[in-house]
Amino acid sequence: MTDITSILQGGYHHPLTRKWQAKAQLTKSMLVYPIFITDNEDEETPISGFPGQKRRGINKIVPFLAPLVAKGLASVIIFGVPLAIDAKDPSGSKASDPNGPVILAIKVLKNAFPGLFIMADVCLCEYTSHGHCGILNEDRTLNQQASVKRIAAVAVDYALAGADCVAPSDMNDGRVKAIKEGLIAAGVSHKIMVMSYAAKFSGSLYGPFRDAAGSAPSFGDRRCYQLPHTGRGLARRAIIRDLAEGADSIMVKPANAYLDIIADAAELAKNVPVSAYQVSGEFAMIHAGATQGVFDLRSMALESLDGILRAGATIILTYFTEAILNEGWLD
Ligand code: PBG
Ligand code: ZN
Repeated sequence: MTDITSILQGGYHHPLTRKWQAKAQLTKSMLVYPIFITDNEDEETPISGFPGQKRRGINKIVPFLAPLVAKGLASVIIFGVPLAIDAKDPSGSKASDPNGPVILAIKVLKNAFPGLFIMADVCLCEYTSHGHCGILNEDRTLNQQASVKRIAAVAVDYALAGADCVAPSDMNDGRVKAIKEGLIAAGVSHKIMVMSYAAKFSGSLYGPFRDAAGSAPSFGDRRCYQLPHTGRGLARRAIIRDLAEGADSIMVKPANAYLDIIADAAELAKNVPVSAYQVSGEFAMIHAGATQGVFDLRSMALESLDGILRAGATIILTYFTEAILNEGWLD
């Protein structure tokens, strides 16, 4: 005779009871769409190796986003891609150029879509001549104090331009505290979320992004500031530290290859929403698999996002946001 406790299938026979198995169901409000803004106003350029994603100039961004906002786009994260010849110097001065792509985009988007939550990635690598995420010492290592000071100033400028959230991705030690202090001094700390890329790992998954943003380092790599992929303990320490420095959300990046870290973040950062960045390489891999006939694109994309939710994130930065909304994948 079958024992009553051995009968599980009754609990997930119906499509609705299968949905109910999720602790968190994928919704539009948890999706953040990363966008790349250049300083050529009318540009709209596909990025090789980055299916469907484009670099856009300031004049192209509102027409592109309007249909997505109408379909429920809740949030974007802005990356600046300065292409002008004089856009880069050793200290990344142009990161906070009032006429640069990020600050212009923040203003244009706020004006066009008052309800859209606008996040600004804060880093220097798109603006430094050496392509590293901070200001360098003579020995080419990151100068912690100078970098943190500059990163905080850039974050405050983005906040004053109208961003709702600043998200430092540079990985300089101590930058969350410096940003919070800067926001307090500027009188805007009460309305700006600080989302820390706390557990950001170095590795092989950022290729299409670096092509999109033109932010590959000109020498060396980022292994002395982004975490080693073996470093679960380091990630836990960074999460605890950034919470103590006042982070309003903790991010794990990449996502699908780091589900254990997302689960750690959900445990360590219980009192803030945990976010996860499904990065360009993860997105491109899923596209490549679908193109090769390994799986169906939509099914695999949604399975990958449900994995991120199951691990414990409730905010997901993903390039699939566009397809989810435009193709009605959640409807
Ligand atoms: C900049 C930054 C990067 C990404 C987000 N912010 C690139 C990097 O660290 O080299 C990667 C995002 C992606 O690959 O989708 N510091
Ligand atoms: Zn960077």
